[in-house]
Formats: sequence, structure tokens, C-alpha cells
Amino acid sequence: MGIPASVREATEEIRKVRQARRYRPDPVPDDVLHELLEIARWTGSSRNTQPWHFVVITDKEQLRQISRLRPPIAWVAEAPLAIAIVLDGASETSEAYDEGRVTERLLIGARLLGLGGGVAWFGDDAQQAEAKRILGIPAERAARSVVVIGYPTTTKDHRPNPVEGGRKPLSEIVSYDRVGGARA
Ligand SMILES: Cc1cc2nc3c(=O)[nH]c(=O)nc-3n(C[C@H](O)[C@H](O)[C@H](O)COP(=O)(O)O)c2cc1C
Repeated sequence: MGIPASVREATEEIRKVRQARRYRPDPVPDDVLHELLEIARWTGSSRNTQPWHFVVITDKEQLRQISRLRPPIAWVAEAPLAIAIVLDGASETSEAYDEGRVTERLLIGARLLGLGGGVAWFGDDAQQAEAKRILGIPAERAARSVVVIGYPTTTKDHRPNPVEGGRKPLSEIVSYDRVGGARA
């Protein structure tokens, strides 16, 4: 049968989703942002609780303040837009799972829309509290990260202590029927 070329094109795009940390200054057009938020809205969640709220940040000063929470996210200051993911704060484990799902959809959606994205983690409890203060998020809600969106100029990690790229081969991360099991 084989995989049709059009499907391969789509899966190839998904495979190319990478963390971008440097962007052109160009703003994200409103219709593109709207489409991205629609993609996020349709993410599945535990018992369909949809425990999220999205704060779209384009204000330069707020982006700068977020970027100062910790050095590994300094690059946020130069981004045109970031989306803070705010969780209800009702169930830590399932909301963390849902947060991961919605984040990945934003990153994939951004790629399909000709943009790119990157995750920026606020840090420890005190840094999360500071992020909530900057963004007017009530203390009882959870907020751990923003997904930065824009037109990437590179996906190279330019930071002084870059993360190594690439991925483990399938042979290392997949087994069949039981851990360590070979294909029948
Ligand atoms: C939970 C989580 C937190 C992350 N936090 C940061 C961060 O604070 N700063 C940063 O530059 N990248 C952050 N990243 C991005 C990772 O470094 C990136 O996904 C990983 O290095 C793979 O990048 P690649 O897809 O470009 O190979 C985070 C990713 C995840 C999943």
C-alpha cells in the first residue's frame, strides 16, 4: 500500500518541529494567531475538562520581564509573541499531561502555519509566582511556561550551554510485546 505522498509531506512537517529561540521581529498576523488558538482549543484533555486558559503576550515589556525570570529563557525578550498556558490548578498530574498535549499542538500548529515555536519554562515555585504576577494570573492557578511563537531565523540553540539535538534511534526506544522484546 505505502503512505501517499501528501500524507508523507504532512508527517515530514510534523517530524521537523523543533525548538526555535530566535525570530524575525515580524508580528504574527491576527488570522494566523486565531487559527493557532483554534488548534489549541481542540486539544483533548482528561475527561474533557479543558483545564487551560491562554494568555497571548505581545507586549514587549512583559516579554522582557518573563525573559528575566532565568537565563535559559533570556531569548523570550526578542520574540514577537508568547502564549502562556494557565491551568485551573485542580489536578496537578492530569493538568501537567494536558499542558504537554496542548503545548505540542501549538508547536505543530505553528509549523504547519509557516511559523515556529519554542517552550520557555518559568522555573521553580518563586519564578512561577513572579510569572503569575507579571501576567495577572491568580495565585491558585498553575502556570509553568509560555510557548513562544514567531517566524524563526534558526533552530540552532544559541545559548552558552546549548542542549544537544538529534534523537535516539527507534531501535533504542521501541520494543514489542514486552520491554526488550523483539519484533515477531
Ligand atoms: C518541559 C520543557 C521545558 C523546556 N524549557 C525550556 C526552557 O526553559 N528554555 C529553552 O530554551 N528550551 C526549553 N525547552 C525546549 C527543549 O530544550 C527542547 O524541546 C529540546 O532541547 C529539543 O529541541 P529540538 O526539538 O530543537 O531538538 C523545554 C522543553 C520542554 C519539553
